[in-house]
Amino acid sequence: EKQNGDVLQKSFKEMISTLPKKSCWGLPEDQYQYQSFWFSPPFLQGALSAQQQFQAQPTDIILCSFPRTGTAWLKSLTFATITRTSYNDSTTPLLSKMPHDVVPYIEFDHAQISINRHLGIPLLATHLPYSFLPRSIIDSGCKLIYICRDPKDTFVSLYHFIARHCNSRNTQPIQLDEAFELFYEGISSYGPYWDHVLGYWKASLERPDKLMFLKYEDLVEDTVLYLKKTAEFMGYPFSSEEQQQGVPENIVKMCSFDNLSGLEVNKTGRHREGKGNVETENNIFFRKGKVGDWKNYLTTEMAQRLDQRTLQQLSSSGLSL
Ligand code: A3P
Repeated sequence: EKQNGDVLQKSFKEMISTLPKKSCWGLPEDQYQYQSFWFSPPFLQGALSAQQQFQAQPTDIILCSFPRTGTAWLKSLTFATITRTSYNDSTTPLLSKMPHDVVPYIEFDHAQISINRHLGIPLLATHLPYSFLPRSIIDSGCKLIYICRDPKDTFVSLYHFIARHCNSRNTQPIQLDEAFELFYEGISSYGPYWDHVLGYWKASLERPDKLMFLKYEDLVEDTVLYLKKTAEFMGYPFSSEEQQQGVPENIVKMCSFDNLSGLEVNKTGRHREGKGNVETENNIFFRKGKVGDWKNYLTTEMAQRLDQRTLQQLSSSGLSL
């Protein structure tokens, strides 16, 4: 079996080496374009592996997102909701593990066949575009939750994330305006951003019972309301007694930016330790957690250009960002 796995991985590597590639964002490895999306090689390899081998379960709930749109927050909120009867505020694994370590990524941590779920919790995550999802996810009828964010804030968050990543590897980060042009052209890991969003948006219109579509800004505006909606969608609704006891509010407080970013594990811990280029410090995932931080980094002209691009890309979809 291991031998078959190795042969498969080798054939993926060979296929990837034939794809169009680009050295960009100051990253140590090239980005590869496959079926009109851009990928870092380890994640594309994981995606191909998952497409062939990942076995979704009907009870799975898959958290889907473009990078830097609120994935870790969504992971913590959904994890805390699903596990609320097994753990309390002082025993939850969120106190000692960072959100990405309680909800694994399909294309990185879970690409091989496995029907076991981490901690027995049916939550998984992915940054893959909708059209890349393993067939078994659609066929199993499991539920998906997608979170998206204003592309201006997504870009600013991504720029800082990659700059931090480069600094910790002593490579030169690129200038913000250069990164902006790349993002604008759709060249960033899992990009183009708009195609990513649109794939899930269209699927959510076709299968609203299976795919819930969230916006980071709405979640910031009324976290309790959207947490309740999410809990209901997942099949773990808060009872009226729980609501009277303030259970949703407690979860929101525990998963707030201030609380999570202040935990020792998220200040000093490391993610994917020993896994080479993909290893990072946990605190890189917690920057400001604000809506509209783009105003501090983008010129008016840049903001207008990106807004124009968004309008044009989303036109006639019924979605606004
Ligand atoms: P900023 O860089 O704008 O601060 P992802 O988890 O998809 O990588 O998204 C990262 C973004 O979510 C970062 O945005 C990060 O600070 C923010 N974030 C992380 N935890 C959060 C939380 N608990 N509440 C709100 N935002 C959070």
